[in-house]
Amino acid sequence: MNLNVIDSGSGTPVVWIHGFPLSSSVYQPQMSIAGMRHIVPDLPGFGRSPAAESDMTMETYAQAVLHELDARGIEQAWFAGVSMGGYVCLALARIAPERMRGLILIDTRETADDAQGKKGRYDSIAKVRHGGIAPVVESMLPKMLSASASKELVAEVREIMESSSDKGVISALRAMAERPDSSALLPKLNVPVLVIVGDEDVITPPSDAQRMAAAIPNAKLVIIKAAGHLSQMEKPEEFNQAVKAFVR
Ligand code: MLT
Repeated sequence: MNLNVIDSGSGTPVVWIHGFPLSSSVYQPQMSIAGMRHIVPDLPGFGRSPAAESDMTMETYAQAVLHELDARGIEQAWFAGVSMGGYVCLALARIAPERMRGLILIDTRETADDAQGKKGRYDSIAKVRHGGIAPVVESMLPKMLSASASKELVAEVREIMESSSDKGVISALRAMAERPDSSALLPKLNVPVLVIVGDEDVITPPSDAQRMAAAIPNAKLVIIKAAGHLSQMEKPEEFNQAVKAFVR
């Protein structure tokens, strides 16, 4: 499966994996970080990547990302994932720990969906099948950014969400509903891990980030003020500074 990938800059390879229902565009503000080769895939069915023919899991998303690294001859990289992208990074740490030089977990969590969460995903799948992704966009957009986000930024996030395909959204909802709990993996991570969260994130709140950072042996936690779920878009200066300081 070939993905649409932004590949820009030179230096330490950093693979940025987007969340749901989003695309590589959510990392636009990070592309200016110098000294890094930014590799930013659109996951299948999102942005400019075609949807997969078969059902996806967090592991098959991770394999699709690794395929892009193989195609570029990149053995090891830092992996950064926001929200669902974080779930993919944890799958990657499970299936190919030798490829991971370091990890950045952004506004995400290690736990699986509870019964109510799973039901919500399958209800959303039924809605998308019936009438497209609009209900998913409308219900998630207000939770993506902090209350103080500009209208322009909200419009930008809406546009990114609306570029997702029905098939990609359905596949990802199912993959998220069925993803395993990664709690037992955290103490085994033996790479440097940066955990970043916006203090106004209502989807994966700071308590999730604090719990993950406490469970990971070499973790540093950064809480970004006045930022919601997409902290890398909302407070790019603070976010990029934290990444530069850690990856260096
Ligand atoms: C995301 O931003 O990727 C999603 O909110 C993750 C989720 O719904 O669990």
